[in-house]
Amino acid sequence: MCGIVGYIGQNDTKEILLTGLEKLEYRGYDSAGIATINDNGVHVTKVKGRIATLREDVDATVDSTMGIGHTRWATHGVPSVMNAHPHQSASERFTIVHNGVIENYIDIKNEYLTDVSFVSETDTEVIVQLIEKLHEKHQDTKKAFSEAMSLLKGSYAIGLIDAEDNETLYVSKNKSPLLVGLGEGFNLVASDAMATLKETDQYLEIFDKEIVLVSRNYVEVQTLDGQVVERKPFTAEIDASDTEKGTYPHFMLKEIDEQPIVMRKIIQEYQDDNGQLKLDQDIRTAMKDADRIYIIAAGTSYHAGLVGKEFIEKLANIPVEVHVASEFSYNMPLLSEKPLFVFISQSGETADSRAVLVKIKELGHPALTLTNVPGSTLSREANYTMHLHAGPEIAVASTKAYTAQIAVLAILAVDTARVKGLELDFDPLQELAIVANAMEVLTDQKEELEQLARDYFGTTRNAFFIGRSTDYHVAQEAALKLKEISYIQAEGFAGGELKHGTIALIEEGTPVIALTTQENVNYSIRGNVQEVVARGANAMVVSMKGLEQDEDAFVIPHVHELLTPLASVIPMQLLAYYAALHRDCDVDKPRNLAKSVTVE
Ligand code: F6R
Repeated sequence: MCGIVGYIGQNDTKEILLTGLEKLEYRGYDSAGIATINDNGVHVTKVKGRIATLREDVDATVDSTMGIGHTRWATHGVPSVMNAHPHQSASERFTIVHNGVIENYIDIKNEYLTDVSFVSETDTEVIVQLIEKLHEKHQDTKKAFSEAMSLLKGSYAIGLIDAEDNETLYVSKNKSPLLVGLGEGFNLVASDAMATLKETDQYLEIFDKEIVLVSRNYVEVQTLDGQVVERKPFTAEIDASDTEKGTYPHFMLKEIDEQPIVMRKIIQEYQDDNGQLKLDQDIRTAMKDADRIYIIAAGTSYHAGLVGKEFIEKLANIPVEVHVASEFSYNMPLLSEKPLFVFISQSGETADSRAVLVKIKELGHPALTLTNVPGSTLSREANYTMHLHAGPEIAVASTKAYTAQIAVLAILAVDTARVKGLELDFDPLQELAIVANAMEVLTDQKEELEQLARDYFGTTRNAFFIGRSTDYHVAQEAALKLKEISYIQAEGFAGGELKHGTIALIEEGTPVIALTTQENVNYSIRGNVQEVVARGANAMVVSMKGLEQDEDAFVIPHVHELLTPLASVIPMQLLAYYAALHRDCDVDKPRNLAKSVTVE
């Protein structure tokens, strides 16, 4: 989703902004722009499309030591040069980049800006015009900026430059992510640390509704009413080299291949010197005390939550509900007496999940976040955090974060069971080590999976994934992976549900991929396969060693039956990858999608 980069310092601003925006490309966007300032004024360049085009369009002769840049993922108004950021006020004195959605932009227009002609369809332009209007009243940029921020309702991360002051970047946020990067003789602003890791690993958090004045040699954080806030910087624990593709053609393929390493990292991180599970004592108490767990997540993380529910219910004997974050906020179920909310989020920034977190905190309920980004909003604002240790995930389609989420959920469930004194015949660390080996075998089978992707998804318009019990959750994730990157219409169904409607869609040659890794449903899912084959489907059975039959298209190595999603999802990820590749799709940056969904 939209990304912001800002720089004030000594170096070539254009290059720092463009490189930063390239690093934010993974978040998803459809237009981009930068504004730089020098003695001749503010220079704005905007394009519809990719940063590579922006690079070509930027005037190489313009030198500057301060500027702001933006990647836009359209919300208000189509993707176009006109709607791309930065936006300027009528006099062009103020230039702004904004991430988020302003809910009261029409009210602001009607109350303060009736005499202004707007050039874009965006809510963002309303902010910059409002700042100019308030500047007429205050004759002071900071006052105008602060008052404007106090009038905004909704989500925003904002960077503003004033053409008459090339010493200050004005910054503020509410709900949308934004960090200040600290350097020697320069400072930066970015939606996430990934954009500026080349320049610094020192960052300052900004909290909602704070105003930050960023200059070359100092950064001042203030409350909206002007109180100065002292805050210590933190070190971003991301290795800049982890954000590079290396020799891989795509981040997605690299991230699929990293899964065995991630499993081993998780085993290492959640194990103490005696080989016992290592978890925060407060998390243990919170889990033990809960009479019901509410898992809140979106997309792939939601699918991981469905698997996590099985672990927690079967191993720790605590009832679990899994909810799609965007629905929960508006349709809250009756809560138990002592609920614990578990947020699962790769980015830790998903706005839908954050909206639920805000709501349940108001109700006084505790929250645990499982995230890949420890300093993220969902991590900071929850009571407890468990780190996924998957390393930066850049491809929009989530792969290694999904398997990391499932592995960490397994550890959480077993630890809770042990704290509760329940007898278990399941050692998660040992079983995850077996999974890591299986993953290695699977990621080595690319040629076979590439051929299967050609055979089954070559020219098809649609595809179905079926499974029962645990395999049903993986079928849903497999369908999401395929549809989001190859644009083949794909759905995941419970095998038994087919006859209740979906089977009507089966035609001659329709691909149906059946997953079978659970002994108790092996027979029945194979019955479902027969039903679709009888109606012309091109069926592919993916089974597990020990349950396989001669005609199965692909057999995964044997792993513990609770952990089969960690292995069976890998051929699904690779099938999606190759299907997208064969269709010439942009694998890492699928159309219309954003990596970090920071608007509700
Ligand atoms: C799909 C995908 C998305 C995310 C979803 C939640 O491949 O990546 O469905 O899982 O947008 O994102 P996080 O986990 O960052 O909250």
